[in-house]
Amino acid sequence: MSNDYIAIVTGANKGLGFAIVKDLCENFKGTVYLTSRDETRGNEACEILRKLGLKPEYHQLDVSDPQSVQRFASYIQNKRVEILINNAGILFLKDAKEPKLFQAEQTILTNYFALVNFCEAILPCVKEGGKIINVSSSSGHLSRIPSADLRKRFMCENLTLNELNLLMRNYMEAVKNNEEIDEGWGDSPYVISKVGVNAYTFILNRKLSSNGIIVNCVHPGYVMSDMTRGAGNVSPEQAAKLVTEIALNSKTGGLYIWHNGDTVNWNGPDPRGFIDGKI
Ligand SMILES: NC(=O)c1ccc[n+]([C@@H]2O[C@H](COP(=O)([O-])OP(=O)(O)OC[C@H]3O[C@@H](n4cnc5c(N)ncnc54)[C@H](OP(=O)(O)O)[C@@H]3O)[C@@H](O)[C@H]2O)c1
Repeated sequence: MSNDYIAIVTGANKGLGFAIVKDLCENFKGTVYLTSRDETRGNEACEILRKLGLKPEYHQLDVSDPQSVQRFASYIQNKRVEILINNAGILFLKDAKEPKLFQAEQTILTNYFALVNFCEAILPCVKEGGKIINVSSSSGHLSRIPSADLRKRFMCENLTLNELNLLMRNYMEAVKNNEEIDEGWGDSPYVISKVGVNAYTFILNRKLSSNGIIVNCVHPGYVMSDMTRGAGNVSPEQAAKLVTEIALNSKTGGLYIWHNGDTVNWNGPDPRGFIDGKI
């Protein structure tokens, strides 16, 4: 495969993203781009892989910064993106001290809007056979939103990206007005951000499947990383295996894939009950 065939992983200086880059360097025949918002941390991560004999390329990328996204999109404009893994994400844990509105806005802007904006900027370079994987979460399951009316709006077969963006803005507005619980959004911005990521996955797959491009989302499991302060039951390396497998071998798009490889019904019962054995 030519060097112009590339794989991109966002938020890859550590955690799951770093492990996915390592796995792809070992198994993908094109060039693998490790990207990170902080250049020093990203270059240090690349150095670790180079010492193992692997050959990642590095480029700075802050998915929340439109200029950084533009620089990266220009840089790769003549390359062919075979694999795009939208992994970058944030989570405020329960004991976070930041005000509720700040947490909600940062979480939705980073996990949802930045992912969408970056992905849309890269789409011209994704051709037939390309695969896009959005790293979601069990929190992205539709059952996590209490309101049946809101769930219905998210799962509408004809939902457009504009309508989805509006739903996400409505959520931020509800938090601003202290009405998110009454309106049935629940109390977790992370849930809403990942439900948005899943809804976007299905919209994008509907749009791109006729071009031979496959778009899926994945819940990687409870991964031991900085995001969980080291808690979890699976290492980033173990979790990365599933993501890499989907990136290299999936034949079908529009799927929400659980950490054990099962495809789950986004609008069915909460899979934590019947797969993970807990709610
Ligand atoms: N850990 C879990 O149990 C778990 C479960 C389900 C889903 N996930 C999802 O898995 C993905 C990876 O999480 P992780 O556990 O590996 O967490 P992590 O160790 O905290 O890594 C998150 C990565 O995202 C990067 N990032 C954050 N904002 C960014 C931005 N604006 N632009 C570019 N990069 C940005 C971080 O960069 P910095 O180092 O600069 O902060 C870091 O590299 C996330 O999408 C997360 O929601 C994790």
